[in-house]
Amino acid sequence: MKRINRHDWEWFVRQFEGISKINLTAYKRPQMERRINSFMRTNGLADYGGLVEKLQADKELYKKFLEHLTINVSEFFRNPVHWRVMEDTIIPILIKQRSQLKIWSAGCSTGEEPYSLAIMAREKNYDVRESILATDLDAEVLDRAAEGVYHNRVVREVPERILKSYFEEENGVYRVRPQIKKLVRFKQHDLLKDPFPRDYDLILCRNVVIYFTEETKQELYGRFAQALRAGGILFIGSTEQIFNGRELGLKSLSTFFYQKS
Ligand SMILES: C[S@@+](CC[C@H](N)C(=O)[O-])C[C@H]1O[C@@H](n2cnc3c(N)ncnc32)[C@H](O)[C@@H]1O
Repeated sequence: MKRINRHDWEWFVRQFEGISKINLTAYKRPQMERRINSFMRTNGLADYGGLVEKLQADKELYKKFLEHLTINVSEFFRNPVHWRVMEDTIIPILIKQRSQLKIWSAGCSTGEEPYSLAIMAREKNYDVRESILATDLDAEVLDRAAEGVYHNRVVREVPERILKSYFEEENGVYRVRPQIKKLVRFKQHDLLKDPFPRDYDLILCRNVVIYFTEETKQELYGRFAQALRAGGILFIGSTEQIFNGRELGLKSLSTFFYQKS
């Protein structure tokens, strides 16, 4: 499928914002276009006009489209080496400063990331203040997160002992136990529009900004820096890097971890 011209793209962006309240101008256009085109191909839609009509008329298709666009894939303890750094180095640094940690998982998708944090808190015996805040733009993934039911693939990095302690298994499906669920609070939040909460010890924002333009990323990292208390730490995704950390008041502690000065 060839590229859509600028005029039609801008038309689509306006229509889509009307339907979803999501402003696509902050997202990388080539990536978005590729996803939209592949969605249209699989759903037999010939042009953007047809897509808009369908999105307005068919709620199920609209939900599928949102999922396709934002890619909600996640996993428990995604990138286990980084979680080990978190467990061995980052949490001890934070715990020295405050006995109870205030934690935010931003762009939490279906809940694997905040539940991984909750499991770690239980295992390492540290307290979380006001429960872990877990937010996402997409209400659909938040419903699934709150249910806390997962298939084999997403728990593949979870050691057997942890699986037994914190999940109930039935026919290859794993349900997060209530003792973990109650440590997490899910909330809908758009990182590009809504105000940020404050005074956090630890913020995770992983594999979310990959969809954003460079300018939007820098702005977001600045806002995360403001949402941290002095000494608080930001944990980012394995393909991400903050280039102007110093300007934002963030110093690199180890790859993928930045501390507010
Ligand atoms: C790939 S998932 C990341 C899940 C988890 N953080 C991880 O690393 O496994 C990306 C999530 O970012 C969310 N997202 C995209 N744009 C967003 C925005 N503007 N505000 C909040 N969440 C957003 C998507 O809905 C999606 O659930």
